[in-house]
Amino acid sequence: MKLLRPEIDTDPIQEKFAQARRELSAAIIERDEEIDLALTALIANEHLLLVGPPGCGKSLLLDSLLSWTGGTKFSILLTKFTVPEECFGPVSLSALKEDRYVRVTTGKLPEADYVFTDEVFKASSAILNTLLRILNERVYDAGDGITRKVPLKLCVGASNEWPSSETGKELSALFDRFTLRRAVSLIRSQAGRQKLLWTRNHAPKFTTTISPEEVEKARRAAASLPWSNEAKAALEAILRELAKEGVQPGDRRQFKTVGVVQAFAYLCGADEVQPEHLEVAQNCLWDDPTEQPQKVAQVIAKIANPTGMRVTQLLLETEQVISSCDVRNLTDAAKAAAKLSEIDKQLAGLRGNGRLDQARTYLKEQLRKLKLASIEAI
Ligand SMILES: Nc1ncnc2c1ncn2[C@@H]1O[C@H](COP(=O)(O)OP(=O)(O)OP(=O)(O)O)[C@@H](O)[C@H]1O
Ligand SMILES: [Mg+2]
Repeated sequence: MKLLRPEIDTDPIQEKFAQARRELSAAIIERDEEIDLALTALIANEHLLLVGPPGCGKSLLLDSLLSWTGGTKFSILLTKFTVPEECFGPVSLSALKEDRYVRVTTGKLPEADYVFTDEVFKASSAILNTLLRILNERVYDAGDGITRKVPLKLCVGASNEWPSSETGKELSALFDRFTLRRAVSLIRSQAGRQKLLWTRNHAPKFTTTISPEEVEKARRAAASLPWSNEAKAALEAILRELAKEGVQPGDRRQFKTVGVVQAFAYLCGADEVQPEHLEVAQNCLWDDPTEQPQKVAQVIAKIANPTGMRVTQLLLETEQVISSCDVRNLTDAAKAAAKLSEIDKQLAGLRGNGRLDQARTYLKEQLRKLKLASIEAI
C-alpha cells in the first residue's frame, strides 16, 4: 500500500530568499535587520536608503545584495562634481552631427535592473531631476523626447547623513523616493567586535543567485499574500496612534507600506500577513528622521508587539548587562548571570522568529562565558 504523505507546499524562490538571508547574516555582523530590509526591498521593488557613519558595513551589505542578484547593475559614488554623462551616458556624437541631442545609455543607469547610488544626497541638480523621475515613474527620456520605461527594479542608496530639514525641494523629494529608510549603527556586542577584527573577509558566500524573473515572481507572490484581520486592524491602529503623536506619513507612503509588509511576510516564509510582520513598517511610516523613527518603533511595538523587535530589545539589554559586569567581583557576576537567565526566560516565552533561535544560542554562550570567567577569577 502506498503511504500518503502530507504535501509540503514550499515555494523554491521563497526558499532561495531564506537561504540568502541566512548566508548574509552569517557573514555580516549585527546587520540582521538591515539584511531583512534589503531583501524586503528587493521583493517589494521599493527603493532602500541606509544612513550611517563611515565604515559601518553599508556598502558591504548593499554590494553583497547586488552580487546575489542577476540582471544588469549600475553603481555610482556621487559627488557634487559628478556630471549627468556618468549616470545617464554620453551625448551621441553621430546624432549631434544630424542635429539631434540624444544620450547613449548603454551600461548606464537608465539600462540597469539594479542601481546602487552611494552618497546619494551629493548629487547635483542636473542629475537629481532625471534621477527623481527614474526612481518614481521608472521612465527616462534620452533627449529625443521619447519617454521610455526603464528596467529598474530597485535602487539602493547610502549616505553618511540624513538630508537636513533646510535642504531644497529636490533633495527632499529624493529622500521621499526611498520607501525604506534606516539608520545603521556601529557594531555593539563584544562578540561582534571580535568577529570583525579576526575575520579577514566579511563578504558572504552565496550558494545561489536570483534572476530578475525570479524576483518578479517573488514580488507577485508577496503582493498576493492575504492580510489577517488582526494585522489589518493593527496597521490601522498604528496609523491612528501615530497621527495622535503628530507623525503623519503621506498617503503614498502609507499605501506603499502595505506592499512592504507583505514582502516582509513573504521573506519570513508566511502565507498570510500577521501583526508580527508590521515590524518592518518602522522603516517606512515617518518623514522626519530626527525623532519620528523612534516614536514609530515604539507605537508598532506597543500595538503589534512583533517578536523581532522584542528580540532586538532583549539583545540590547544583554549587551548592557555584559558590558557593565566585572567578572572578578563574584556578587556582580552572580547578579549579571541572574539577569541573563531572566532575559533567556523572556526569550523562551516568545513565539518563533528567524532571529529568536540565534539570539537564544548567543545568550546561552554569553552566560557560559560569564560563569567560566568568574570561576577562573576565584
Ligand atoms: N557589520 C559588519 N560586518 C562585517 N564587516 C564589517 C561590518 N562593518 C564594517 N565591516 C568591515 O568594514 C569594511 C568597510 O565597510 P563598508 O565599506 O561597507 O562601510 P560603509 O558603511 O559603506 O562606509 P562609507 O560610509 O565610508 O562608505 C567592510 O568591507 C568590512 O570588512
Ligand atoms: Mg560605503
